[in-house]
Amino acid sequence: MIVTADPQAAHDWTIVNSRIGRVAFVPTMGALHEGHLALVQRAKELADTVAVSIFVNPTQFAPTEDLARYPRPLDADLSALRAAGTGLVFTPGNEQIYPPGFSTFIEPPSVAQSLEGELRPGHFRGVCTVVLKLFNIIPAAVAVFGQKDFQQSLVVGALVRDLALPIEIEIAPTVREPDGLAMSSRNRYLTPEQRLVALCLSKALRAVQSSFAKGERRTDILNAVMQKELHAGEPGGVDRVDYAVVADRYNLEQSDLATNQSVALIAARVGTTRLIDNMLLHGD
Ligand code: PAF
Repeated sequence: MIVTADPQAAHDWTIVNSRIGRVAFVPTMGALHEGHLALVQRAKELADTVAVSIFVNPTQFAPTEDLARYPRPLDADLSALRAAGTGLVFTPGNEQIYPPGFSTFIEPPSVAQSLEGELRPGHFRGVCTVVLKLFNIIPAAVAVFGQKDFQQSLVVGALVRDLALPIEIEIAPTVREPDGLAMSSRNRYLTPEQRLVALCLSKALRAVQSSFAKGERRTDILNAVMQKELHAGEPGGVDRVDYAVVADRYNLEQSDLATNQSVALIAARVGTTRLIDNMLLHGD
């Protein structure tokens, strides 16, 4: 059964003839792809009912970012969720999440400060605020997030731990296209030529994994391996590298030497599209 909430009615659900039981929740911004559906599959393993939210959260976009052009194919998303066996779909409108007078925001945890947090001021404030609100609306025992948004998963983990939220967080592996490109709703912005360039990200991450496996531990060398791959190929690789760093997988601190607890993270621009990806250096 799929239930979509009436955007006019705060938190209204119509649940007919269904045993809800334990709920696993997958928060999304829609424009669903196989990566999201893998989160739904993982959620199905963890609970009796899967709840998915689709909400393009304006407070996590800076004024210069792609809020207006963010894809919103709601009918296709609902069909995909129905086919995937989703029990509940929550599709609030802006005014339901941010009613007039809304003024309470979450101060993100320290792990939100670097990387995305530095380059996208306010992003994690918006993410934390909407995630907490969604957790309060949706009666879930567990929420499933993707490793693709690595820093986000650490931020949400810290939010839950620091505020003692009564929900477990499960992180599901990144789903990739056969050629290695991490699935992302933003991939649909890429032209066929740009899509080829976008492969630089996963190639760079594989290259750094390989250097680490061969024994390289110096992070300046490992970071340089990624930079080289990101600028390789025709016509010179990605258009801009926001970061390509090896950091601690639990707190994102960067130090001189990588360890078995390190993760490599990249954010880069191909044309006007900003892509992120990551791989754990020791196993993924
Ligand atoms: O990862 C996303 O799609 C969003 O950041 C989330 C968690 C749904 C919050 O808007």
